Amino acid sequence: MIILCNPGNPTGRIYSAEELQELAQILETNPHLLLLADEAYADIVFDGLPFLSALQLSSVADQVILSSTFSKTYAMTGWRLGYVVAAPDLAATINLVHRSINGAINTFVQDAGMEALKIEETELEASARSYQARRDIVVECLTGVPGVSMLPPQGAFYAFPRIHSTLSSDAMTTRFAEAGVIVRSGSEFGPSGEGHIRISFATDVESLEEGLRRFVDVVRSLT
Ligand SMILES: Cc1ncc(COP(=O)(O)O)c(C=O)c1O
Repeated sequence: MIILCNPGNPTGRIYSAEELQELAQILETNPHLLLLADEAYADIVFDGLPFLSALQLSSVADQVILSSTFSKTYAMTGWRLGYVVAAPDLAATINLVHRSINGAINTFVQDAGMEALKIEETELEASARSYQARRDIVVECLTGVPGVSMLPPQGAFYAFPRIHSTLSSDAMTTRFAEAGVIVRSGSEFGPSGEGHIRISFATDVESLEEGLRRFVDVVRSLT
């Protein structure tokens, strides 16, 4: 099984249509291979970039499992409301495990989900624009800071800068926490995340600006 997180957490990167078509070709030549696409951030895409869902790979539709959630689009993190789109035989197997382990979601969260689905598309777009404005603040604050290199996030609400320091990501995270800014260690996301720090910008502008000010102060002392 290939697992794809698109838009990416923690990188904020978006896979292009060409990359997804290449994945489709790999699936076509390996009919027993499955693609599990986690598209939790599909509605938070910046700069008008095109976003291709794995569900649009029609030639391999039976090999694609889409996993998504109300957590990000509708700011319902912690409500544990999500869904899967898969071919009927796969969906039946997933359902077997799901109903044994999780059971059905409680009814008041189901009601909240029904209300969330009534939200107009224009409101969701406004929400994505507001994340983009905060993404811009992060990019502006970190650009040109010595010891920091970063690709601008294209979606989701994370920045994933590399901090050029002799300290490990874990040790840096402790230093940031001591300065009153909470970030995640890049190595939590796998060995290639070492040297990186994940910043979430899913907060209000004032807190974000203060967090970035503290962040940059710590970076200057580290590099
Ligand atoms: C890529 C991705 N998928 C899923 C989730 C979690 O979704 P849920 O809140 O429905 O468990 C997250 C939350 O951080 C995420 O980043």
